[in-house]
Amino acid sequence: MVQLTLPKNSKVKVGKTWPKPTGASNIRKFQIYRWNPDDGENPRVDTYFLDMDKCGPMILDALIKIKNEIDPTLTFRRSCREGICGSCAMNIDGINTLACIYGMDEVKSDVVKIYPLPHMPVVKDLIPDLTHFYAQHASIMPWLETKTNRPAKEWKQSIEDRKKLDGLYECVMCASCSTSCPSYWWNGDKYLGPAALLHAYRWIIDSRDEATGERLDHLEDPFKLYRCHTIMNCAKTCPKGLNPAQAIAEIKRMQLNRAV
Ligand code: SF4
Ligand code: FES
Repeated sequence: MVQLTLPKNSKVKVGKTWPKPTGASNIRKFQIYRWNPDDGENPRVDTYFLDMDKCGPMILDALIKIKNEIDPTLTFRRSCREGICGSCAMNIDGINTLACIYGMDEVKSDVVKIYPLPHMPVVKDLIPDLTHFYAQHASIMPWLETKTNRPAKEWKQSIEDRKKLDGLYECVMCASCSTSCPSYWWNGDKYLGPAALLHAYRWIIDSRDEATGERLDHLEDPFKLYRCHTIMNCAKTCPKGLNPAQAIAEIKRMQLNRAV
């Protein structure tokens, strides 16, 4: 996995240190980014201690325990707790990943440092504003586009063609990949980023789709597609083990084949 260096932010200050649990022998320290748009204060990093003998094994278990038992103001997104909804993505120990499937024992440092996904506007605490990210996803038309008449029952697909979608359909839109990509950090306003492009490829190669030309036309742009410089952070960090860089390379290859 890729270790991300978070941008130095001189305005992030040391925040509150909460007391250690009494009578515990297996304590772990957590440093968590906090920012509340309503209090007019700069961001800070608060410190919490948990008795690991009374905590579940995943990072999300620790966050829920802190929120339930120590500090109810701590804010983060989560829903499924099993790596399906993509909502608990955050930066843990320098890695963009899903808190619900990232084990406490995977964190290399003694102190568990948790920040929001990097280079995104923050709504509050660990919640990034994904409005632009979702708009980029919508821009690639993430649905089946057809021109022929609707079949009586269903659009059929051979087993071989269905297999081409493996490694693509599993994406949970967590944004870990796009927010680990330096090209997306600097050009995210115009570069679609690894997640949206992986989805674009998923529909381009769907044998049932009848808008391949339009989809490739839409991506034939110096920024939308070609800002990918194959840095590969996306594939290294994806918590679902997907490879957006490969999908992007396939789209570039298709563009090249169209041009000759
Ligand atoms: S490709 Fe992986 S990291 Fe990127 S949005 Fe999908 S699941 Fe998340
Ligand atoms: S809570 Fe759904 S992916 Fe983590």
